[in-house]
Amino acid sequence: MFFSKSKNLLGLDIGSSAVKMVELKDLGKGKGFKLEAFGIEPLPPEAVVGGTVMDSGAVIAAIQKLVREGGVKNFNAATSVDGNSVITKRITMTAMSEAELAEAIQWEAGQYIPFDLEEVKIDHQVLDSDPATGNLNVLLVAAKRDLIGEYSSILGQAGLNASAIDIDSFCVQNAYETNYPINGNEVTVLVNVGASTTNLSVMKGTTPLFWRDIQAGGNNYTDTLQREMSLTFDQAEAVKKGEGSEGVRAEQAVPILNAVTEEFGAELKKTIDFFRVTTGENTIHKVVLSGGGTKVPNLDRYLSQFFGIPVEVMNPFQNITVSEREFPVDTINRLAPSFAVAVGLALRKMGA
Ligand SMILES: Nc1ncnc2c1ncn2[C@@H]1O[C@H](COP(=O)(O)OP(=O)(O)OP(=O)(O)O)[C@@H](O)[C@H]1O
Ligand SMILES: [Mg+2]
Repeated sequence: MFFSKSKNLLGLDIGSSAVKMVELKDLGKGKGFKLEAFGIEPLPPEAVVGGTVMDSGAVIAAIQKLVREGGVKNFNAATSVDGNSVITKRITMTAMSEAELAEAIQWEAGQYIPFDLEEVKIDHQVLDSDPATGNLNVLLVAAKRDLIGEYSSILGQAGLNASAIDIDSFCVQNAYETNYPINGNEVTVLVNVGASTTNLSVMKGTTPLFWRDIQAGGNNYTDTLQREMSLTFDQAEAVKKGEGSEGVRAEQAVPILNAVTEEFGAELKKTIDFFRVTTGENTIHKVVLSGGGTKVPNLDRYLSQFFGIPVEVMNPFQNITVSEREFPVDTINRLAPSFAVAVGLALRKMGA
């Protein structure tokens, strides 16, 4: 028998614009991780809409292509869900054993979850306990069973074992913690701007405090450009990315993009104000952006001015060893912010 460390899972982030794949190898002895496989495969705009898979064939084909072209031999995969079918809450329970808690949570969940309990899978994790009262702060997660079933089935049909189904916000937090030093009790707001959904979460030190998914993202820019400049989706995407399109100069789009950024900033502010009011945490030290949507020109600068706090863009490969011989490092750096969820998934191990 070999005594091998449990291997990392293959991370597959099924987003509405593209499937992102990352495989990491744990180098052991605190040496961190090495990139083993990396890939991104675009999806047609109607394949995944607001977290619901409309065209599973397109998603399965994209996963198979990534696995084949990445030369992946690890078939134990992790993927994640987000959006309206997932509820994440921090609740307080009186001190009790883990076994008692597991049972109590099933009873308590009803008051926090606006779904029929039969329809959801409930999970929990103790975050910390109050030293004075012994009360437990518990992370309660509920996700619709049919959504989990659907994502598991897609991995299965792509020839993989669905070994873990995670939540996008948790993946972003894991990716952040692995790549950046965390100072004491600093409050960090993580904002993962996807195409259709933005996952916002807040950590105090390494303790997660708050999660909220906002139905807005890169598509808002594309939709507005389409409408205001009479463009097709593909043309608007190209203009947004500063590539321009036939008869349209990228500069013409700037005021339109800025107006969407202002609306988006106001939306984030509403959520952050709600966080402040419900938790009493008034000081936010920084905002960390990830997701492809953060590539919109000036978003980080605008938000930094708007909130009056530092805003940085996450590179989820910052602390990961990437071999220049094996990978196109420039491409990886350019696309890095879109890979926060995939890196978070690839950090997971079998059964953990
Ligand atoms: N260079 C760029 N400039 C502007 N926007 C960009 C750029 N590159 C990618 N994007 C936008 O980023 C978004 C895709 O980001 P990401 O891959 O994080 O989303 P996703 O995971 O597919 O979506 P979701 O999580 O919402 O389902 C798209 O709206 C895309 O147009
Ligand atoms: Mg995403």
